[in-house]
Amino acid sequence: MKIGVLTGGGDCPGLNPVIRAIVRKAHQEGIETVGIKYGWKGLIDLDFMPLDLQAVSGILPKGGTILGTSRTNPYKREGAVEKIKENWKKLDLEALIAIGGEDTLGVAYKLYKEGLNIVGVPKTIDNDLSGTDYTFGFFTAVEIATECIDRLHTTAESHNRIIVVEVMGRHAGWIACFAGMAGGADVILVPEIPIDIDWVCEVIKKRHDRGKTFSIVVVAEGAKLKELPSEVTQKAEKDEFGHVRLGGIGHLIAELIEKKTGFETRVTVLGHIQRGGSPSAFDRILGTRFGVKAVDLVLKKKYGYMVSLKGYNIEEVPLEEAAKGIKTLDLNFYEIAKVFFG
Ligand code: F6P
Repeated sequence: MKIGVLTGGGDCPGLNPVIRAIVRKAHQEGIETVGIKYGWKGLIDLDFMPLDLQAVSGILPKGGTILGTSRTNPYKREGAVEKIKENWKKLDLEALIAIGGEDTLGVAYKLYKEGLNIVGVPKTIDNDLSGTDYTFGFFTAVEIATECIDRLHTTAESHNRIIVVEVMGRHAGWIACFAGMAGGADVILVPEIPIDIDWVCEVIKKRHDRGKTFSIVVVAEGAKLKELPSEVTQKAEKDEFGHVRLGGIGHLIAELIEKKTGFETRVTVLGHIQRGGSPSAFDRILGTRFGVKAVDLVLKKKYGYMVSLKGYNIEEVPLEEAAKGIKTLDLNFYEIAKVFFG
C-alpha cells in the first residue's frame, strides 16, 4: 500500500512532527509513503519526493515543512482536478493524508466527494479551524507573541509610550487573546468585536490616571474599526482561496490613539516571526499524535475524516466539519482577558 502526504496553506510549526509521525507509523505498518510537494500544486504537476525514514530523520524540532507548501486551489485552475486524478493513478496511491487549514481541507473534502481516499490533519496557527479544540502551531505562535509582548513592556515603560502590537489572526482573535492574556496586555482587540476607538482611549487614559505611564495594546491583523466596513489590507488582490493580504490595523489604531490621548505611540507588527522556527513541546506532541492517528484512519479505511483534538483525546470528525466555516474566538476567554484591561 502507498499513501501520499501533502502540506497546504501557510506553514506552521508542527508540520514536520506530523510528517515524521505519519512516515514512522506507516513504516511500522509496512505502508510506503510519498511526499507531494507544495500542497495541491504538487499533485497537479506530479512533483513529489521520496518520504522514507531517512527523509524524516531529525525533522522533529524543525519549523516549516520539508514538503514545501502553497495556497494552490485546484478548483480555481482549469483541468487541475482531472490532473490530480490522473497523477493519483500514476503514483498508485491508496490514500492521501492532507495536512492543512480550512482551505486545504475544503479541497480535500471536495476531492473525497469525487471519490479520492483522503484523510485530513488540521493545521493553522490561527486556531480558527472547526472540528478540533486546538490546532498545532497555535501555542507556538502564542509563545512567540508572548515573549515579544514581554520585551515590548520594558521598552514601553522606559519611554512612557503606548505600544500597539499587531499579531496574526485573519478571521479570529485566538492568538491576540491568548498572547495578550499571557503577556498582560492592557487592551486586546479581536476580529470578533468591532473596535470602538473611543473606548480604547478611555481605557488607556484611566490606566494612566491611576499612575501608569505606558500601555500595551494587542490587535489581531483581522480586527476592524467600528466605523470601517472591512479589514485593513496591504494588498487588495486576492489569492486562489479569495483571501486578501491583511496588515495595517496596528498603524491605523496607533495613529488614532496618539491623536486622541496625546500619548506617544509606537507600533510593532510581529508578522511571520510568529510562524517561523521550532515548534513548542506541546505542538510537537500534538502533531505526533495527529500523524499516528491519521495513519490509523487510513488502516481502518476511514476516508473523508479529519483527526481532531477533543479535550485530551485524539478523535476523528468528518472532513465536512473542517470545511464548514471558521471557529471564531470563544468569547469566554475574552471576558477573562477584559478583567485585566486598563
Ligand atoms: O492562515 C494563517 C496566516 O498566518 C494568517 O494569520 C495570516 O493572515 C496569513 O496566514 C498570512 O499568509 P501569507 O503567509 O500567505 O502572507
